[in-house]
Amino acid sequence: MQRITTTHLMKMKKKAEKIVMITAYDYPAAGLVDEAGVDAILVGDSLGMVVLGYETTIPVTLDDMIHHTQAVVRGAKRALVAADMPFLTYQTGSADALRNAGRLLQEGGAAAVKLEGGTEVCPQVRALAEAGIPVIGHLGLTPQSIHVFGGYKLQGREPDAARRILADAKALEQAGAFCVVLECIPEDLAARITTSLSIPTIGIGAGVHCDGQVLVLHDMLGIAGKIRPRFVKQYAHLGEAIRKAVEQYGEEVRQSKFPMPEHSFTSEEIAGSPSPLANKT
Ligand code: KIV
Repeated sequence: MQRITTTHLMKMKKKAEKIVMITAYDYPAAGLVDEAGVDAILVGDSLGMVVLGYETTIPVTLDDMIHHTQAVVRGAKRALVAADMPFLTYQTGSADALRNAGRLLQEGGAAAVKLEGGTEVCPQVRALAEAGIPVIGHLGLTPQSIHVFGGYKLQGREPDAARRILADAKALEQAGAFCVVLECIPEDLAARITTSLSIPTIGIGAGVHCDGQVLVLHDMLGIAGKIRPRFVKQYAHLGEAIRKAVEQYGEEVRQSKFPMPEHSFTSEEIAGSPSPLANKT
C-alpha cells in the first residue's frame, strides 16, 4: 500500500478533493483511523489534554511526542503521519527547531511536523523546509499561546486581526510550509485564506470552505472531558459505552458470572488441545 505524501495532499487541493485529517496518539487508534481511510494523522500535542490529563498542551515534551509518534507510525500503513512540535521546541530559534523537528522525523518516524504561529516563526519554517522537513503551519487559536489569549476563544473577529491572520498564512506559504491548519476563526476568513493560498488549509472550527478538516479523535468519539467546543461533532459516544462495559464487567465479577466455562480451561481439555489459548468455536 502506498503511503500518502505531502505532494499528494497538495495535489488534492488542486483537484478540489477534501483532505481528511484526524489526531491519534497510539498504535490501535492509528490502525483504526488508517483503516477508516483518513488521508493524514496528526499526533497533536492535544495529547497532553486528552491522553495525559494536563490542563493545557504546554507541559507536553518532545520525548512525549516522539514516544507517541512512534506508536502511531507503527499503526498507520497508508496515512501521512505528522507530529506537533511542542511548546518551546521551535520558538527559541531555527537551530532548536531543526534539531527538534529532526528528532520527530528520525526517532519518531513522522513525515512532517506542525508548529504554531505566523510571521514570527517564518525563519524556523524556512530553515526546516530548506532542510527537507515538511512543515504544517497553525494559525488562529494556537493552544500553546493560551495564556496570551486568556482562554479558548474565536480568533480573527476584528478586521485588523483577520488581516493579520491572512498575512501570516501568506507568509507561512512563502516560507515553505506545505499546508496550514486554521483553528477557530470565522468561516468567511478561512474561505478567504483558502482561496488566497496555493497550499491546502485544514480547518478545525473554521467552517466548511477549508481544503480539509481535522478533529481531535477523543472529542469526536465522545471520550474526552466535559468541555465540548461547538465546532466538535460527536460521531460516537464511546465514553459512555466504555463506562457501561466496565460497570457490567465489575458486576459480573462480583456475582461470579465471569469467567464462564467458555473463558476457562479444564485439565482434560488442555491435555488434548494443541492450542489451549485459542477461542472455542
Ligand atoms: O494538537 C492538536 O490536536 C492540534 C489540532 C487541534 C489541530 O493542533
